[in-house]
Amino acid sequence: MNTVKEKLHTYTTIVEPALSQLFPAENCRQARIFDAARYSLLDGGKRLRPALFMEFYTLCSHAAPEQALRFACALEMIHTYSLIHDDLPCMDDDDFRRGRPSNHKAFDEATAVLAGDALLNRAFEIMMQEDVLPPQQVLQAAAYLGRCSGVYGMIGGQVIDLALEQQPDTDAETLRRMVDLKTGALLRAACVGGCILAGADVRQQEAAEAYADAVGLAFQIQDDILDVVGDTALLGKQTGSDANNQKTTFVSLYGIEECRQMVQQLTQQAIVALDAFENTDFLRDLALWLAQRDH
Ligand code: IPE
Ligand code: IPE
Ligand code: MG
Ligand code: MG
Ligand code: MG
Repeated sequence: MNTVKEKLHTYTTIVEPALSQLFPAENCRQARIFDAARYSLLDGGKRLRPALFMEFYTLCSHAAPEQALRFACALEMIHTYSLIHDDLPCMDDDDFRRGRPSNHKAFDEATAVLAGDALLNRAFEIMMQEDVLPPQQVLQAAAYLGRCSGVYGMIGGQVIDLALEQQPDTDAETLRRMVDLKTGALLRAACVGGCILAGADVRQQEAAEAYADAVGLAFQIQDDILDVVGDTALLGKQTGSDANNQKTTFVSLYGIEECRQMVQQLTQQAIVALDAFENTDFLRDLALWLAQRDH
C-alpha cells in the first residue's frame, strides 16, 4: 500500500504546481476572485481525479503523464468548483472543507458562487488551449468532461441528491442512479477521459468505464460511511452533515455493516475490469486503498 501512496504523491507533486500556474494570483481590481478560487484549489485534496486521468492516459498512450497535465488540472478545477458549491448554505451548508473553513466562510457566498463559476470556465479554457495533442482527441475528451460535469452527470446527480433530502423511503435504484451521477460521473471523466485523450479503442474505454463505475460507487458509499464514523480532523470536513440534512444515503438505507461489504464487493468488481490493460498494479492498489481510506 505504501507504493500507492508514493505514486499518488508523485502525481500530486506534478499537479500542485501546475494548478497554481494555470490559475495564478493576479494583482488586479478583481484580485479577490483569484484569491477565492486559489484558496479552494491549492494545498488540499487527495488529487484522485487528476491521478486517475494521467494514469489511464499513460496506460493507453504509453506517453509521459505530463502530456495529460492540462486536462488533469482542468478536471481537478471542475471537482473543486463542485465542492465549493456543494458546501453552500443552499446546498449541504457545510462550514469546513479540506481542513479549512469552506469557501463561503473564508470569503462570502457571492464570492464562493463566482469562484466556482470561475474554476469551471477556466477549466474549459485550459482544455481548449491544449495544442500539442491531436485536436480530434482534445475535442472529444473536452466534450466528454463537459458531459460528465453537467446535467447528464455531476450536476444531474446533485439535483437528485437535493430532491432526496427528507425522503427516507427512497428505493435503492434511485439512490444508485443519484450516486452514479453525482460522484460516478467525475470519476468516469477521469478514467474514460484519460483513455479518450490518449486515443484508446472502445474496448479500453469500456473497461475504464467499468472500473470508474465500481470505484465511484464504492467511493461514495465510503464517503457516506465516513460521514457517520469518520474523524473530522482526518477528513478535513465536518462529519454528521448527511444526518443534519436528512439525506438519503447508502448508510441510511443499508446500515454501516452492509455498506462495508458493498465497498469490498465493488472494489473486487473494479479490479476485474482492469484485465483490459497491462501494468495495472497502481490502479488495483488504489481501488484497495480507497476501500479502506479514512479521509
Ligand atoms: C469529495 O471528493 C466529494 C465526493 C465525491 C464524495 P474527494 O473525497 O475526492 O475530495 P478531495 O478532493 O479529496 O477533497
Ligand atoms: C458529493 O457528495 C458531492 C459532489 C458531487 C460535489 P457529498 O455532498 O457527500 O460530498 P461531501 O461529503 O460534501 O464531500
Ligand atoms: Mg452534497
Ligand atoms: Mg456535501
Ligand atoms: Mg459526503
